[in-house]
Amino acid sequence: MFKDELLKGKRILVTGGGSGLGKEMTRHFLKYGAEVYICGRRESVLSETAKELMDETGGKVNYFALDIRDSNAVDAAIENIFIDGPLDGLVNNAAGNFISRTKDLSPNAFNAIASIVFHGTFYITNAVGRRWIELGHKGSILSILATWVWTGSPYVIPSAMSKSGIHAMTKSLAVEWGPHGIRLNAIAPGPFPTEGAWARLSPETGDGKTSINDGGSMSSNPLGRVGEMDELGNLATFLMGDGCEYLTGQTIAIDGAAYLSAGGTFSSLSNLSDDDWENIRSTIKKSNDKDKNLRNT
Ligand code: HXC
Repeated sequence: MFKDELLKGKRILVTGGGSGLGKEMTRHFLKYGAEVYICGRRESVLSETAKELMDETGGKVNYFALDIRDSNAVDAAIENIFIDGPLDGLVNNAAGNFISRTKDLSPNAFNAIASIVFHGTFYITNAVGRRWIELGHKGSILSILATWVWTGSPYVIPSAMSKSGIHAMTKSLAVEWGPHGIRLNAIAPGPFPTEGAWARLSPETGDGKTSINDGGSMSSNPLGRVGEMDELGNLATFLMGDGCEYLTGQTIAIDGAAYLSAGGTFSSLSNLSDDDWENIRSTIKKSNDKDKNLRNT
């Protein structure tokens, strides 16, 4: 889809880059020539991923353990990277989430999610952006959100609230930091199954009732399927690449139009047959004719 050297010379940090969507985006950035930094809480996972992706792509992956909830550790880690030279891109991918009835959430449970998604994402964004402004260096920031930034979502309230905050950050900083050549965009992925997210959002209860993906059939998705990692990786690569810098402050959904479908007043009508539509048409026609007759009398 892109020229092989699209990201050559770029240095990109991916938080939570050791697994899931972060690993897939890292794979794509390497494929197109970037040098990638990945961080996360589990050093062994990061080191395995770095080795695997370097072997696969021949690119360079640097990794370091970092808990983005710790603002001092975040600042020290970013300082350390910038000693070797500025980053060109930051991907805010690290997140935490689990489904739960809101009434069952303790303050600690709320904080477990908000401290990563809301606070941690801000710490790292500001640590990178502040340095770019000091150095007069351009950069691209991409945050991984969810479509519930527009719709809200029951049973994942701490995540919906936190990701909505980062959605607001994306729009706000696009304006504040635009004059410095820093752009901020976000991706709201629909169902891209990963081990970490699915264990917490679609846990196997045996009765299929918690399944986020209709037991795999995706019958309610207009495209009838889950997302492919390449599709997400390509969109992230496009947003990290040069050539469309006028695009900033946007959150882009990549979900097969799932959230538009579920949110539409008449979305359930997708299940009607041709016969149903004929019946509907004739019922409406009868009603229209009745009105016409009344007008003519
Ligand atoms: C209610 C729960 C709970 C549950 C934990 N808690 N699980 N409460 N229901 N299912 C409560 C605990 O009782 C505790 O509160 C508090 O939360 C913290 O619990 P810990 O076990 O100490 O949690 P912690 O070790 O902090 O880990 C939680 C986590 C972790 C940070 C969310 O699971 C994690 O690191 N996840 C990273 C990976 C991940 O979540 N990926 C999914 C991202 S998906 P008390 O009061 O008892 O102390 C995503 C969007 C996807 O972001 C969009 C798809 C469409």
